[in-house]
Amino acid sequence: MKINVQKTALKSVKDHTVIIPVYQQGSQVILPDGGNHLKLLVEQLKKEKAFEGKLKQVCYLRCVKAGQSQNVLFMGLGKKTELKLNQLREVLIKASARLGKEKVPSFTFHLGSVVVDCDCPEYLAQAVAESLILPLYQFSKFKKDATQNSGVKAVTLAVDSAEALKTGNKGVAKARTMIDACNLVRDLVNTPSNELRTDHYAAMAADIGKQAGLKVKIMKEDELKKGGFNALLAVNKGSDQPPRMVILEHNADKKGLDTICLVGKGITFDTGGISLKPSNAMEDMKCDMAGSATVLGLMQIVAQLNLPLHVVGIMPITDNMPSGKATVPGDIVKSYQGKTIEILNTDAEGRLILADAMAYADKQYKPKLLMDFATLTGACVIALGEAGAGIMGTDQKTMDELKKLSCKTGDKIWQLPLWDEFRDEFKSDCADIRNIGTTREAGASKGGIFLQAFLNDKTPWVHFDIAGSAFTHHPTHRYYPKGATAACVRLVAEFLSNRR
Ligand code: BES
Ligand code: ZN
Ligand code: ZN
Repeated sequence: MKINVQKTALKSVKDHTVIIPVYQQGSQVILPDGGNHLKLLVEQLKKEKAFEGKLKQVCYLRCVKAGQSQNVLFMGLGKKTELKLNQLREVLIKASARLGKEKVPSFTFHLGSVVVDCDCPEYLAQAVAESLILPLYQFSKFKKDATQNSGVKAVTLAVDSAEALKTGNKGVAKARTMIDACNLVRDLVNTPSNELRTDHYAAMAADIGKQAGLKVKIMKEDELKKGGFNALLAVNKGSDQPPRMVILEHNADKKGLDTICLVGKGITFDTGGISLKPSNAMEDMKCDMAGSATVLGLMQIVAQLNLPLHVVGIMPITDNMPSGKATVPGDIVKSYQGKTIEILNTDAEGRLILADAMAYADKQYKPKLLMDFATLTGACVIALGEAGAGIMGTDQKTMDELKKLSCKTGDKIWQLPLWDEFRDEFKSDCADIRNIGTTREAGASKGGIFLQAFLNDKTPWVHFDIAGSAFTHHPTHRYYPKGATAACVRLVAEFLSNRR
């Protein structure tokens, strides 16, 4: 997919299709400067109530005389003074998804024609490019029909001035980095488990890391056994595939930089183990490695943007299978951190592999901030649906900053509490901690409570439960198309690139 930035006046745009923003002012429809040749057409559409310029309304017309272009998509932006960046994102996503469906070969959006609440022109160009390109993603690797790939080949942002051309190009370059990482994450999460064996996934992650210039290490079974990663090994016990832990490091040898650890759940398929899941919708559990893919995508961005931080990405990888060798409810294992865990439900496996990986990150790297990403609980899906991720943790300042940024990036998050009241439920009769609470209430928070037990009290930490948002069945304007979404990747990348 090509993304171009071009200096062209709106009326001179020459492409297969041009996107024209339309505002509403009282009962009037307002076209941008240079769009007056379309005034009669838009007024006619309004009369017929086909298009009124309402926010998020789109109207695609073929074979009209739209200046130099043959086809036009009118995109409603509502009142001129009120448009927020996130609203613009959502309209652009809708417009682009529509043009993707129409299989147009290329289209242009005239960036100079919108008035939006955003004080950084470079970020505006980035946001526009992300919103126009991300919805065009297709997962067609396993489709024979080649026409699947005959989508949009090029997207152009047109601007008015030499200055805007410069900032536009910078913004688009950053967008490119974000989009590539998001599509990598989406490909991995959409890939079914028979095509994503644990050892292959680990090797692939290491290759991607090396290509990005990261320091790479893969821990195999022997090393994991020697290291005492018994909670990870307990989840792997029923499996025919080997466990892995991939460690990716940016700026490994530079002194004086803040260390940030990113840890992600890498369950390539979650059957529930002996606490077997019901079979309806079990196929969705191919997405249970989304947390680790998020970490890989973020590490690629961190390397490409060469951020002045020491960032360590840790991906514990296994599947969760029932078998004669599998862990059974009631088993007790000694975790890497030292606490013994009574595994009362083998379907609460994500927290087991994360407990070991997070304790390792904490002990080995003493990070200034640890963030973990996991499709951890069905309870989070019940609480928040698929529209956003649940966050919780001990670093309130970071969470507040993430909330603010989430309004900019359109990646929704919502904070859930880690109340002390939930802690008592994890007391075990015969081990240091149980892997589940005694009731199902507040399940997302309780997942967080369990993870917290494996970290040093002083380590600033934020947990992202992406169980709902990583994989969607109802594409919204935020995440399009359905399937893997790469939720939280752009949000956290933006957070890291702001942190100096
Ligand atoms: N991978 C699941 C959580 C999940 C559910 C992810 C739906 C994506 C969509 C996780 O391992 C799990 O099964 N959690 C249990 C925890 C419970 C046993 C405490 C759950 O949510 O039921
Ligand atoms: Zn599970
Ligand atoms: Zn799981």
